[in-house]
Amino acid sequence: MRVLLYGGGFNPPHLGHLAALERAREVLHPDLTLVIPDGEPPHKPFPKGSPDTDERLVLSQLNFGDLPQTEISDLALRRDGPCYMIDTVDLLRRRFPTDELVLLVGSDMLLSFGSWFRSAELLRECTLAALCRGEGEIDAISAQARTLEARGGKVILLDHDPVEISSSRLRAMLPERMGKAYLKDEVYREIIRLRLYGAKPELSWLREQVITMLDPKRVPHVLGCEETARSLALRWDLDPEAAAEAGILHDMTKRWSAEEQLAYCEKMGIELDEGERQNPQLFHARTGAVAAREFFGAPEEICDAIRWHTTGKPIMSSFEKLLYLADMIEPNRSFPGVEKLRELAYLDLNLAMATALEQSVKSLRKRNMDVYKDTLDAYSWYRAYGK
Ligand SMILES: [Fe+2]
Ligand SMILES: [Fe+2]
Repeated sequence: MRVLLYGGGFNPPHLGHLAALERAREVLHPDLTLVIPDGEPPHKPFPKGSPDTDERLVLSQLNFGDLPQTEISDLALRRDGPCYMIDTVDLLRRRFPTDELVLLVGSDMLLSFGSWFRSAELLRECTLAALCRGEGEIDAISAQARTLEARGGKVILLDHDPVEISSSRLRAMLPERMGKAYLKDEVYREIIRLRLYGAKPELSWLREQVITMLDPKRVPHVLGCEETARSLALRWDLDPEAAAEAGILHDMTKRWSAEEQLAYCEKMGIELDEGERQNPQLFHARTGAVAAREFFGAPEEICDAIRWHTTGKPIMSSFEKLLYLADMIEPNRSFPGVEKLRELAYLDLNLAMATALEQSVKSLRKRNMDVYKDTLDAYSWYRAYGK
C-alpha cells in the first residue's frame, strides 16, 4: 500500500495547500493520504495569536477532510516538544510496517533536505515527492534529486503551478478584511466565527451571508442602515468598517418567528423580563446581539450596539447611538421629521438621540403600544441632556 504524507503548519490551511495535495494525489494515486498538521515547528514557533491545537485540527479537517481516503492525523500536533518529521515517521511505522510512505515536500524543502533532523533515516524510510514549478528551479531540483538518489533515496518530481499565497501572508490579510479568496469557504467561515488570527469579515461576504437570513423586503433597509452607519462613523470619527458590520448584522434574527426567538433565548441563556416577553418586537435585538457573536464572532462593541438598537438606554456609547440612529434614518425610512433627524445625526448625536426617542415614544403611543421601560428611561435621559 502507498501512503502519502503531507505535513505542515497549516496555520491556516489554504487553497494552495489543497491544490498541492490534489496534484500529488492525481499523480501518485495513494491508497491512503495522511494530512499531518505540525505541533510546534522545530525552528519557527507559531506566531502569537495562532489558534490552539484543537482549532488547528478543525481547520485542517475543514480544508482537506472532503478528499477521499484521507485522514487528518493529530500525531504530530499532540506531541510535546519540537516536532520532527522523522519522529512522526517512526510512529507511523508501527501502523504501516511494510508500506511505502511517500512524503510530499515543497521544492524549497527538498533543496534544504540535507539539514533536516536525521535526514538519512528519513530518506531510507520515505520516498520523497517534491512539487516544483518547472522552469527556473528545475535544474537545481533535479540536481538535488540526483544527489539524494545517490545516497540511496527515492525522489519523485511533480510539476505544479502553485497558488501564490502563504499562510503568513494570509495571517496579515485576515485582520484587514482580506484573504477570503485563498481559503475554502468552510475554513473562512470557521476563522471568522472564532475570529482566529484577529480576522475581521470581508463585508461583501458578510452581506451575502446575512441576506440569506433576511426577509427579502428587509434587505434594502439593512443595506441602507449599513451605508448610513458607515457615513455616521466617518462623521464621528468611529471605525467605519465596524459600523458597516454592525449595520449588516443588526436585524439578522428579525425574520425568526416569536417561537424561534424564544427557543434561541432559552438555548443561549438570554433572560427576558416581563416587559420584553410581552413585546415580540424587542426579541430580535436580544437574539441578534448573541447570534452575531455565535455565527460571525462579532466583537463586543458590535453586539452591544445590536442589543440596544431597538430600545435605546441611558448613557449609550457613541457606537451604540450611531447604530440606533442609522437604523432610524437610513434612506428607506420615511416619517414626519425624518429629514430633521438626518440633519441632527450629523450635528449632535445626543440631541439626535433625544429627538429620535421622542419620535419613537410618540409613534408607539399613537399606535396604542406599550413603550418599553428602557426606551422611556433613554428618552428621559437624552431629553434632559438636550436641554
Ligand atoms: Fe431592528
Ligand atoms: Fe433595522
